[in-house]
Amino acid sequence: MNNLVIAVDGPAGAGKSTIAKIIAKRLNINYIDTGAMYRAITYKCLKNNIDINNEEEVVRIAQNTDIDFRDNNLYLDKEIVNEEIRTIEVSNNVSNVAKIKDVRYLMVDVQREIGERNSVILDGRDIGSYVFPNADYKFYLIATPEERGIRRFKELTEKGYDTSLEEIIKDIIKRDEIDSNREFAPLVKAEDAIEIDTTGKSIDEVVDYVLSKINL
Ligand code: DC
Repeated sequence: MNNLVIAVDGPAGAGKSTIAKIIAKRLNINYIDTGAMYRAITYKCLKNNIDINNEEEVVRIAQNTDIDFRDNNLYLDKEIVNEEIRTIEVSNNVSNVAKIKDVRYLMVDVQREIGERNSVILDGRDIGSYVFPNADYKFYLIATPEERGIRRFKELTEKGYDTSLEEIIKDIIKRDEIDSNREFAPLVKAEDAIEIDTTGKSIDEVVDYVLSKINL
């Protein structure tokens, strides 16, 4: 049997990773958080005082970086960086790293390689439209900026960040704008993706709906 590939795309905070993780467990397939890969490169650049706007330097870093997923951990050059990549600083810089075409080429190669070896569910921005245009199933999750902001705000304040909801919503909208307007493989709904508005829906409702669309 061929490997199963499920694409989950959509803007920041629409619930993609929460849903994809649960579906991966239910179907016993691998989960790949592709945003985490762009975050890892961003984190490494910031740590090494690389100017994010210096594309050549960022690409050089990406070329010399080893990224791997194992047992739900993200390894950056053999070190687990699950928490380090979730800071506000990384979030506010990652879209500018993710818009660099040569960085994307490198990340997409890794994503395709994983998808060719295993059955996977991947969440991201361009999975159904670019990385796996022939994915078996494609979902596109959306929610209002307010609801997405509230979700991120809760996550961050639980982690002890001192921030405001207004600030988070503003950052999310800015990120969506950069992700949607970049030249190469922007955030876009694939024509054949199933759109799900998660505003006001519980996690279980969305999971059940996604599973109802998947015939194995
Ligand atoms: O899903 P996230 O917030 O962790 O994504 C981080 C950033 O990476 C976000 O600005 C969009 C970008 N990204 C992308 O361009 N393509 C992907 N497949 C996944 C994420």
